Amino acid sequence: MMKKMGGKVKVGLVLMGILLVEMVGNSTGATRHNYGDALSKSIVFFEGQRSGKLPPSQRMTWRKDSGLRDGFQKSIGESQIGIKHIDLVGGYYDAGDNIKFNFPMAFTTTMLAWSVADFKPFMGTELPHALEAIQWATDYFLKCTRMPGVVFAQVGEGFADHNCWERPEDMDTPRNPFAVSKKYPGSEVSAEMAAALAASSIVLRSSNRTYAARLLSRAKTVFEFANTYQGSYNDSLGHWVCSFYCSYSGYQDELIWAATWLYRATKLPYYSNYVLNNIHKLNGGNFAEFGWDTKHAGIYVLVSKLGFAKHLQPNPFITNAENFVCSVLPESPTTKSVSYSPGGLLFKAGGSNMQHTTAISFLLLVYGRYASSLKKTIQCGNVVVKPPRLAQVAKRQVDYILGDNPLSMSYMVGYGKKYPQRIHHRGSSLPSTDAHPNKLECQGGTSYFFSSNPNPNVLVGAVVGGPDINDKYPDSRADFPHSEPATYINAPLVGLLAFYKAH
Ligand SMILES: *[C@@H]1O[C@H](CO)[C@@H](O)[C@H](O)[C@H]1NC(C)=O
Ligand SMILES: *[C@@H]1O[C@H](CO)[C@@H](O)[C@H](O)[C@H]1NC(C)=O
Repeated sequence: MMKKMGGKVKVGLVLMGILLVEMVGNSTGATRHNYGDALSKSIVFFEGQRSGKLPPSQRMTWRKDSGLRDGFQKSIGESQIGIKHIDLVGGYYDAGDNIKFNFPMAFTTTMLAWSVADFKPFMGTELPHALEAIQWATDYFLKCTRMPGVVFAQVGEGFADHNCWERPEDMDTPRNPFAVSKKYPGSEVSAEMAAALAASSIVLRSSNRTYAARLLSRAKTVFEFANTYQGSYNDSLGHWVCSFYCSYSGYQDELIWAATWLYRATKLPYYSNYVLNNIHKLNGGNFAEFGWDTKHAGIYVLVSKLGFAKHLQPNPFITNAENFVCSVLPESPTTKSVSYSPGGLLFKAGGSNMQHTTAISFLLLVYGRYASSLKKTIQCGNVVVKPPRLAQVAKRQVDYILGDNPLSMSYMVGYGKKYPQRIHHRGSSLPSTDAHPNKLECQGGTSYFFSSNPNPNVLVGAVVGGPDINDKYPDSRADFPHSEPATYINAPLVGLLAFYKAH
């Protein structure tokens, strides 16, 4: 029943049975990419994932209000804290379904904020849109962390939701919130939310100091909660979260990651000391992993850049960051943590591969810029790597996503001439409420799911899980490991695209 799909675990759809396989045609020819256009679209995508009351500024207009009663049902789960009537309207649906999974949502937000924190000078007119995408999440996280000693971890029931193929606007599945508490802790989700709040406070400071101060103050409280009441949300909410976003790497990485972001936001030694005093708990392990579950490589790269471990000789953060870089670079003779497809796509086993491609490329670019600033080369076994090489490897991945691949197709919906038409996404694949005002019930969308027609609504900017290790892409709605978009695929891409637009 439970299986790990590239870090993300999903329960198969009950209504799914047939895998529709349609090979897309082959053609060749590299194009010069419009990174500005792709950047703009990568941010618009987040509007398609919005839950709650949509603002007048909403640009993806086929989406409408949804989840307006979220939080008004009794909370359930192991924690049984029995809170009623708390406003949890807002936030994002994680992928092609209608659940608000706060753990990956928080990681997405941290990465959006990191994209802006490091690449703001290159964002141009997209900056306000990126900030709006961040604030859409933080407004919701402020609600989720409003009660001291409680952090809401999820809204909606995964099993019930995945049993339906229904528009978010029509949802009639249970919308119960799930919480962690002192007695039933969940340090992964709480600490990642603290990281998201702290990182967001850095980038929202220039537009609204008051709001940013609120985020930072909340980040501190939530971090203290996560650290004081340590435990995995697996144990508190396992049945409800583990088939979807189970925590495999534990919570020490999120606690250290949150402290790193709190240090970046406050410069307080309290947080850098926390990182230095606790980093041994990671045992250097998983240095090459980075995603919603595992923060190791992100911690090593970010702490290297922030420089508060400079006094350590050797500096374990730099050692591990460079082990990570070497484990990724194609020419490195050291043991690889990734594979490359014949067409050059960075690949890791499991589903939703593009999450690895974008997150790892982001870290390469950040570390490469840091190494450049120090005019520092990287030694991978007997191979000496110059810093610009890292940005070049990351750019190759971005170009692959945008169309430089054996199928000459863009894996970003709405970008380029050829892109995925049948993404695994409920809202995109069902007629919009404008086109079909009558409600489509739980199973009412089944015929649309099985249809071989393209999706009626273009989820502009969505990057899908992507091709397989042989650069093949069936473009099938049922094939969710390849055809489903996810917010954490796009978030690091925002920073990457901003950089390549300017370079
Ligand atoms: C700034 O944030 C505060 C606190 O959230 C809010 O009340 C205020 O309206 C915001 N100001 C602007 C100009 O958006
Ligand atoms: C969470 O549960 C999964 C699946 O049972 C297990 O593999 C993993 O080690 C658990 N994680 C923690 C931190 O307990």
